[in-house]
Amino acid sequence: MTRATGGPGLPTGVSRTAVVIAQAREAESARPDRLFDDPLAGPLADAAGRITGISEAGRRAGEHFVLRTRFFDDRLREAAGAGLRQVVLLAAGLDTRAFRLEWPEGTRLFEVDLPDLISFKEKALADQGARAACDRVAVPADLREDWPSALLAAGLDPGEPIAWLIEGVLMYLTPEDGGRILSRVSELSPPGSRLAVEHVNRAYVELPQLRPAMNKLASTRAAWRSVVEDPVAWLAGYGWRAGVTHQAELARGLGRPVPAMADPQAVGSARIWLVDARRDTGRPAPAETSRPARIETPTDDRSR
Ligand SMILES: C[S@@+](CC[C@H](N)C(=O)[O-])C[C@H]1O[C@@H](n2cnc3c(N)ncnc32)[C@H](O)[C@@H]1O
Repeated sequence: MTRATGGPGLPTGVSRTAVVIAQAREAESARPDRLFDDPLAGPLADAAGRITGISEAGRRAGEHFVLRTRFFDDRLREAAGAGLRQVVLLAAGLDTRAFRLEWPEGTRLFEVDLPDLISFKEKALADQGARAACDRVAVPADLREDWPSALLAAGLDPGEPIAWLIEGVLMYLTPEDGGRILSRVSELSPPGSRLAVEHVNRAYVELPQLRPAMNKLASTRAAWRSVVEDPVAWLAGYGWRAGVTHQAELARGLGRPVPAMADPQAVGSARIWLVDARRDTGRPAPAETSRPARIETPTDDRSR
């Protein structure tokens, strides 16, 4: 069973899922062979109210959260190394990359998330006396609404390449909302921009071992709503040249066991997609051949 603890005013619904991920990052940071160090993860989880009684499936998901964190850390480091000085984390949650990664002089990092999550996080970070390693800008906005205006008003320059990260959120949104987000990201991205994305396929959502977790998410107003079968073709439709990294390959490269939820022997064709993409010309490919599809959940509740 997963149980939430904590006081009033803390992130609820889908925002609460960010706490489980912070706890996984905290646990990883305590390992001598850690893949990253996130000293703010524990204090943020404490401030939010920890999720206790994490199930076996939740523990296994933690293995994926750790690998994906390192995967996306490395993609952002590469973008910074290639000279990109604007970074946008869509649905940043309790992400602390602005604080824990080394950023070149002049880097501006925008964190977009729902207003309640942002106000909670800003207070919790201030209570810790946390100091960002770059010019960090928190942007309260709903990704289902006009978030680009908020980002532009906060100082994003669409004339300069942007490194985008969309981690742990698209599956919570409808295919239509996900498509609109991709359109807007693509419109704002000049050639040279980069995009890192996580999504899942239908076989993953339908894994029997995931059923209790899916039901639990739906009951806490955090149901998953979309899947994509071919992320490379999907992103090509928006003008991105994308590649996919398999968790098994990633885990082996990092000297870690393949997570049970990503082991092809155990899950067959089920996939959590870890995607990184580049924008070469800004022109979309002629046809979009794979779009995200809707998934239905037993207690699907559209409210947040
Ligand atoms: C699973 S967490 C992932 C957080 C972070 N990207 C990470 O991987 O640690 C999902 C995040 O998506 C945010 N989110 C969900 N729906 C959103 C929306 N419509 N607009 C903005 N943020 C949203 C939640 O507040 C939460 O912080």
